[in-house]
Amino acid sequence: MNTKIIDFYEDKDGFIKCVEAIKNNDIVVFPTETVYGIGGNALSKDAVSKIFKIKERAKDNPLIVHVCDYDISKYVEDISEDAFKLIDKFWPGPLTLILKKKNVIPYETTGGRNTVAIRMPNNEIALELIKESKCPLAAPSANISGRPSGTNAYRCFEDLNGRVKFIINGSRSEIGLESTVISMIDDNPIILRPGYITLEEIKKVIPKVRLYERLNEKILDKNPISPGLKYKHYAPKGKMIIINSSKEKIANYLEKVYLTYENIGILCIDENLKFYEKLNKNLKVVSAGKKDDFIEIGRNLFENIRVFDDLNCDFIISECFFQDFSNAVMNRLLKASSHNVIIL
Ligand code: TXA
Ligand code: MG
Repeated sequence: MNTKIIDFYEDKDGFIKCVEAIKNNDIVVFPTETVYGIGGNALSKDAVSKIFKIKERAKDNPLIVHVCDYDISKYVEDISEDAFKLIDKFWPGPLTLILKKKNVIPYETTGGRNTVAIRMPNNEIALELIKESKCPLAAPSANISGRPSGTNAYRCFEDLNGRVKFIINGSRSEIGLESTVISMIDDNPIILRPGYITLEEIKKVIPKVRLYERLNEKILDKNPISPGLKYKHYAPKGKMIIINSSKEKIANYLEKVYLTYENIGILCIDENLKFYEKLNKNLKVVSAGKKDDFIEIGRNLFENIRVFDDLNCDFIISECFFQDFSNAVMNRLLKASSHNVIIL
């Protein structure tokens, strides 16, 4: 299969072909404000099965259903007052709600669960694609399972070339981290995946919300509260560790690493870039963004992890950008490093 990259603004015929593809239960990669999605008709077992196959995704890991209008009662039931409040405040936007599913949503979409994850993305192209296709789109992040999520069309092409017919090229995802996922089941709101929308922001709307208490643990349970918790995620090809310490101590630690690894990378705040560059000309130093800048560090994170692959790094050290590991950036880094955190 030839994969074609379609420019939404220049190639209207190409976009119409993408809509036709969705209507024929084919799969199309499209931009959202968080990360790119690999989408198909969420109501079609056939389309959804293709997504799992293309992504090499475990069948029990449910997909997010993307909608373009507020009438979600077609797809879910028992929508609480609190759920309506969240939708009112944050949609369209990077918040995914888990609610009880109705029969129209096939079990293939929900990994066999009675619940479904649903969100309205805040991206013109995504909304237009859903509207024109006349169906909600099931869309996990557009990467091969286990790899960093794709945040621009070319990174999606890197993983999915030859596996999908169309990739719609919008600009790069302005948030760069996947949506916050919140379970609204049984009137017991729990954040299962931290994201751009934080606990504090959600608390202002529904004060009783809490973070899932095992968010920072390595979860090996067979059937966790959210299947995404047990799978490997976002990993670069080389080994990655997080070091929670000063740049001077990290420099000392590097002396040992040079003995074992050949091509070492370091992800650091912009302020430390020159310091590391001066240590060793072979060290691959990548700036994550400015100190404490959650938005910039988050936006660049998945792209930066892929840059270390481009540079063939076999060992990557990331600085610890935030002390709170349930921060969305640290949550992704924890997974990318398989929970390898060193405190010096
Ligand atoms: O920002 C996003 O959410 C992106 C864009 C494309 O919208 N999508 C995305 O999808 O990140 P995905 O499939 O990579 O992540 C969905 C997460 C997984 O961790 C999955 O286990 C969880 O949501 N999830 C989905 N449905 C669930 C359900 N019914 N119960 C518990 N967890 C669920
Ligand atoms: Mg994903």
